[in-house]
Amino acid sequence: MSLSDNMKPGEARCPGHPTTKELIGNDRGGAPKPLLEDSYEFLGDDDIPYERYTSEKFAKAEDERLWSRVWQWACREEHIPEPGDYYVYDIGDRSVLIVRTEDSEIKAYYNSCLHRGTQLKPANSSGFCNELKCPFHGWTWSLKGKLESLPCDWDFPHVKKEEFSLPEVKHAVWGGFIFINFDSDAKPLDEYLGVLPNHFKNWKLEDRYIETHVVKKLPANWKVSSEAFLEAYHVLETHSEGVYTAGDANADYDIFGDHISRFIHTIGYTSPHITENRPSEQEILDMLLGKRTDEGSGRVLPEGSTAREIYAEHVQGAMKEKYKQDFSNLTVTETIDSIEYFTFPNAFFFPGLQLSMVYRFRPNGVDGALFDLLFLRPKPIDGPCPPPPEPFHLEVDDSYTKCPGTEFLGAVYDQDTNNLLSQTKGFKSGFKKGQSLGNYQEARTRHFHQTVDKYLEENNG
Ligand code: FES
Ligand SMILES: [Fe+2]
Repeated sequence: MSLSDNMKPGEARCPGHPTTKELIGNDRGGAPKPLLEDSYEFLGDDDIPYERYTSEKFAKAEDERLWSRVWQWACREEHIPEPGDYYVYDIGDRSVLIVRTEDSEIKAYYNSCLHRGTQLKPANSSGFCNELKCPFHGWTWSLKGKLESLPCDWDFPHVKKEEFSLPEVKHAVWGGFIFINFDSDAKPLDEYLGVLPNHFKNWKLEDRYIETHVVKKLPANWKVSSEAFLEAYHVLETHSEGVYTAGDANADYDIFGDHISRFIHTIGYTSPHITENRPSEQEILDMLLGKRTDEGSGRVLPEGSTAREIYAEHVQGAMKEKYKQDFSNLTVTETIDSIEYFTFPNAFFFPGLQLSMVYRFRPNGVDGALFDLLFLRPKPIDGPCPPPPEPFHLEVDDSYTKCPGTEFLGAVYDQDTNNLLSQTKGFKSGFKKGQSLGNYQEARTRHFHQTVDKYLEENNG
């Protein structure tokens, strides 16, 4: 009889090991309250059909009913700090021109001229301008979207300037991110984000700056690409070098409403899959500090401390040195763990100090995705903040390790990318037509699909 025989589906947890919430709650100093909040329910166990990833028809339905109605972050506020700064955000065939006006207001416009449709600014561009002038015939709008002039206006008596202001796209700001939504009736961003603003009250992403920004082409549908980051179940096989220093099977998963889900995956706890010769706390510390166990790390674990606690102290010290601020108020889990909040449909926010990434996945054809990978770091307390870097572009076959600043995790991301192409091929070559997900560890993937369905099924009107 297996351990789960007397349990309802979804109730079983990795046997014989503390849950992540138990682990982080027992760290010296405990864990912030939001991280201890438990929110999981069984969501079903039917297969997820592969055609959701491979069908043109499905992608078209997503384009029409999902991407047209969800909140999605387009850029950071620091991409357009000064009046006249603009940034173009593209999602599928849609394009938004985001502008800072003379009054420092943010405006978001459909990136299409009201004369004959030409894009006012090229896709994926950013820069500075005093006015928005179409490159085809020169119709010109103010930064506030008012039509100012058009050549040969005698030929356009039917064009009333007051009726030709640039149509706006709904936008809102959270955590330093400028979000847009093509649905003018969309509910407010704050409401859409559910628990996120409250959970991030003490993790102000607006107080961070972009240290690294990579845009990588991925060889898989945007949902497959996102799903590679929704669970730690693959760590054992895909990132096996990490199993001595990272809890995987006992990671915690939570789902908060339609749009938010989370995992917390501990660093400094050996995977439950390692059943023999589990390393001692001293050995874990040695490994975390990057030294081979038999050489020692030079740091002796004090009596009564855990490797996690001492490693967190070490990380806080290194970060203090680098970013000239004191981080000793942070708990162990906030300092070292992989804490990841997914925001439907395509954003991931990591509030941690060391693991402080942001991801975004956009469709790039049915079998492709664009992956924005950012590292956000604490803004300097005194002195100027570094401007956002130009994104470093990587093709499908390029290694992340080519990008300065991602050496630390680049090899790990490469391992994830390798799975994506193989999965996409397998979707098409398999006899079985859908994926069978774990009830707990892969619940976020199921939840992701259930929310996709809500958008596809709801009337557009
Ligand atoms: S298309 Fe824009 S001015 Fe003609
Ligand atoms: Fe991974």
